[in-house]
Amino acid sequence: MKEAKEYDFSDIKEGIRLHLNESPFSPPEFVINAVVKYLSQGNRYQHPDLTRRMKELAAEYNKVEPDEIFPTPGGDGAIRSVFLNLTLTGDKVVLNYPSYSMYSVYSSFKGLKEKRVPLKEGQDWWKEDWENILTEARDARIVAIDDPNNPTGSPMLKGDEGKVRELVESTKGIVLIDEAYFEFSKYTVSKLVSRYPNLVVVRTLSKAFSLASFRIGYLIANKDLVKILEKGSTPFDISLPALIAGITALENPSYALRVADEISRNREELYQGLTRLGVKVYKSITNFLLFKHNEDLLEPLMRRGIAIRNPIKGFYRVSIGTKDQCKLFLEKLGEILEDSNSKQG
Ligand SMILES: Cc1ncc(COP(=O)(O)O)c(C=O)c1O
Repeated sequence: MKEAKEYDFSDIKEGIRLHLNESPFSPPEFVINAVVKYLSQGNRYQHPDLTRRMKELAAEYNKVEPDEIFPTPGGDGAIRSVFLNLTLTGDKVVLNYPSYSMYSVYSSFKGLKEKRVPLKEGQDWWKEDWENILTEARDARIVAIDDPNNPTGSPMLKGDEGKVRELVESTKGIVLIDEAYFEFSKYTVSKLVSRYPNLVVVRTLSKAFSLASFRIGYLIANKDLVKILEKGSTPFDISLPALIAGITALENPSYALRVADEISRNREELYQGLTRLGVKVYKSITNFLLFKHNEDLLEPLMRRGIAIRNPIKGFYRVSIGTKDQCKLFLEKLGEILEDSNSKQG
């Protein structure tokens, strides 16, 4: 346990946070108002009707059945319950490399054997090594694929049913497709859960729904699997404010698509801006961009009040902010690159 990995990041209190793939926009007024109305009931455990309502709304949003939904504290809550509750120490987990860092954190905590299958770097996109994943999946307990992938921003299976079938049939384990960025990518495999009992889809309201610190997300899976996972949790795992925020957001989900559209437009501008600075940047269908740089950027950017992330050596990931935040980031990055060029010259 002592050797277990930790989620590792440095934070800033003041300044611009472009390191955690959050939404740069506050939750909408109607969500905040609904939450405030319920705060005086914080002395009570949540009524099960609220969880049921959350299940119904998430089901409607995804065109699945309410008993195929397991509401969780963020998408991470869903990932954690699969990694911690559905495995035994020593089981094998197959992951793309790079991919969302919490898979490794949970798998090291539980003493799982991690098999990393490197993504292949292309000119614009990164691609999964499909044949290798299928081979490694045979004796795996979990195959976890974030689709789109974090940190590259690239699509993986793209909702291709044929590929999903091939994968779920190649393993007796769980195939976990993490669609944290679904509102940006707009493709999903959620409707396949009724057909494939070992398929699990992870969703969150932390990104386009702009509710990161409320900690609300859900898992979509076959109803028998949902029942098992529910046994490993209490009916009170999601706080009342989180449930109310989730329910109110899903009653009126169209704002998330507007957020996703605006962020996607800012992303395209930031992509062009980085290219103009001569930076090698990859395309993305998410709320972040991955780019290449060999020298340290974290510290000089932090000094200028901007946090980004360095998920793998030689690569940086920047979350897409508001138009102004993207502009400021480009300006500051430009300064840093100029400084380092003049020192080298
Ligand atoms: C791929 C992926 N999955 C899941 C999450 C979990 O987010 P949350 O627990 O806030 O829903 C993230 C957050 O960055 C992510 O990038």
